[in-house]
Amino acid sequence: MSKGTFYITTPIYYPSDKLHIGHAYCTVATDTIARYKRMCGYDVMFLTGTDEHGQKIEEKAKAKGVSPKQFVDDIVEGKGGILDLWKLMNISNDRFIRTTDDYHVKSIQEIFKKMYEKGDIYKGSYKGKYCTPCESFWTESQLVDGKCPDCGREVRDAEEEAYFFRLSKYADRVQALLETPGFLEPASRVNEMINNFIKPGLEDLCVSRTTFTWGVPVTFDPGHVVYVWVDALSNYITALGYANDKYDDFQKYWPAVHMVGKEIVRFHSIIWPAMLMSLELPMPNKVYGHGWLLMDGGKMSKSKGNVVDPYLLSERYGVDSLRYFLMREFPLGSDGNFSNEALINRINSDLANDFGNLVSRTVAMVLKYFEGGTLPAERIPDPIDDELVSMARGLRDVYEQNMENFAPQTALIETFKVISRANKYIDETAPWILAKDEANKTRLATVMYNLLETIRITATLLQPFMPQSCEKTFAQIGAGKEDRAWDNAGTFGILPADVTVQKGETLFPRIDLEKELAALEELSEKKEAPETPAIPTVTIDEFAKVRMTVCKVLECENVKKSDKLLKFKLDDGSGTPRQIFSGIAKFYKPEELIGKTVVACTNLPPRKMMGDESNGMLLSAEKDGKLNLLMLDDSVPAGSVIC
Ligand code: ME8
Repeated sequence: MSKGTFYITTPIYYPSDKLHIGHAYCTVATDTIARYKRMCGYDVMFLTGTDEHGQKIEEKAKAKGVSPKQFVDDIVEGKGGILDLWKLMNISNDRFIRTTDDYHVKSIQEIFKKMYEKGDIYKGSYKGKYCTPCESFWTESQLVDGKCPDCGREVRDAEEEAYFFRLSKYADRVQALLETPGFLEPASRVNEMINNFIKPGLEDLCVSRTTFTWGVPVTFDPGHVVYVWVDALSNYITALGYANDKYDDFQKYWPAVHMVGKEIVRFHSIIWPAMLMSLELPMPNKVYGHGWLLMDGGKMSKSKGNVVDPYLLSERYGVDSLRYFLMREFPLGSDGNFSNEALINRINSDLANDFGNLVSRTVAMVLKYFEGGTLPAERIPDPIDDELVSMARGLRDVYEQNMENFAPQTALIETFKVISRANKYIDETAPWILAKDEANKTRLATVMYNLLETIRITATLLQPFMPQSCEKTFAQIGAGKEDRAWDNAGTFGILPADVTVQKGETLFPRIDLEKELAALEELSEKKEAPETPAIPTVTIDEFAKVRMTVCKVLECENVKKSDKLLKFKLDDGSGTPRQIFSGIAKFYKPEELIGKTVVACTNLPPRKMMGDESNGMLLSAEKDGKLNLLMLDDSVPAGSVIC
């Protein structure tokens, strides 16, 4: 029976570039919680998506020479794009929203109009700094050394007509919400919001732009597009069907838990609640501001170029290993340093040595000591079993408490304490010695059963973190569907007494640290090397240096001892005939070309050919090895310059 609904979201990411490990971190954390809640029996809605409007995307598309929609389509839906990444990483989102989806666009127009009609959005003028070459408005605080943060040029004072949202009106209610225990977590972020943003006074927010067009047009004033954050934040309700007919889940699932990075907590815990207040909707259940993954002490970011590719790591080490590492290595609320070395060490120590080894040793021993890998049903308990059994039995409660508190790292630490205890139990009970005497068979079966049960319980609780590996583990220890259920994770003795195990693949092969680090280094060097474009670009000045002149063919003849070359005398308009050799003898008879109007490059240095001098080159078009001499209409006079 369902325990009720649970709605959880990630930020909708900018498809301005490929996503990196920081985005994967947030999405894996959200996925883990969503899977955990499903396992506990909740009816879960897990939403992620992409934030596709705004000036940045518009500019990137322009630079690439494609439309903004084509640009984002490629990053979102293209090969190796965002959808592919989430599929690869086994992300179990129920819905994926793109802010360019029609239903979302219409809902935004509705939402904007609602707030306007309520009087919470009004027309005013936006004073700021304007960078003319970039056509961008900036606030004083966005400037870098008083100059445009994008191009570094001078900016000027400017004013533009814009719509404003009455954020100030909601300051008190927002403060009360921020102070509500559990709304914004970790709790340390509450004071940060109150001291930095509420106390200095909340100013009304500019919520429309006229300096670019890639956005949702304001229906009642079409020169304006809706500010990208109003557009983006609303995704959390439009994806449920608020202000549209696409879905009908708003009543069922709202309010949400929003998982976001700490840099956008302000948008989610101040601006978003104020918008919801204006729309007279319930507040989010929680905003959780997770920490950043750092590289060499700095935030990983696309613009800094210090990003780590989750695609590559998933393919190299396995999705589950990467997912586990991300959740185990870093406490969710704080920043952490990412390194390949930490990743490999963590996989080796926890997954290969501890968990993987426990599973493979246990299964191998059952197969070795018991006919067909089936345990006999009788048991002989011993006090030496008690600690392991009680730790395994008590694990679910500790785990649950931590998962409910958004502390997946601690939930994993607790789980691995039980796994380590089980490995120690193998050493203490020394099954290989018990196996030497047939009289100990029942005791040996008891030891094996205790190990299998411990594996069953820990694997059940590891499912939200490593779904595929747990599935494989269950197959190896002979656990059926019910045996892996949450309801059975707090009970010891669920597997059938005469359980049968199956041999399976090694779950987590050990990685050679040194070799791998060297291989990764090599890969990153290759990546860093500037790509040589297939066709190098030339500057306009370089291009202008090439002189191409229209010429009339005066004479044309074959060249002795060459089946490739034709010798031309050309009228290039200078009054002196120009001699050029051209390698087109296979394609033309000389007499066909006399009198034709052709194009020659006339400022190449002279070149000796077949003991004679060639002064330039005739232009031909080549395809599949066939040459077509470039010929112009005969009305074009000799000496005309191609420009
Ligand atoms: O801000 N470490 O999108 P975005 C950890 N479109 N997490 C990181 C990270 C890092 N180094 N870098 C990014 C936007 N993230 C807006 C959101 S929501 C209505 C609109 C994660 O593509 C983290 O969760 O810049 C952060 O908040 C998010 O990616 C920002 O993604």
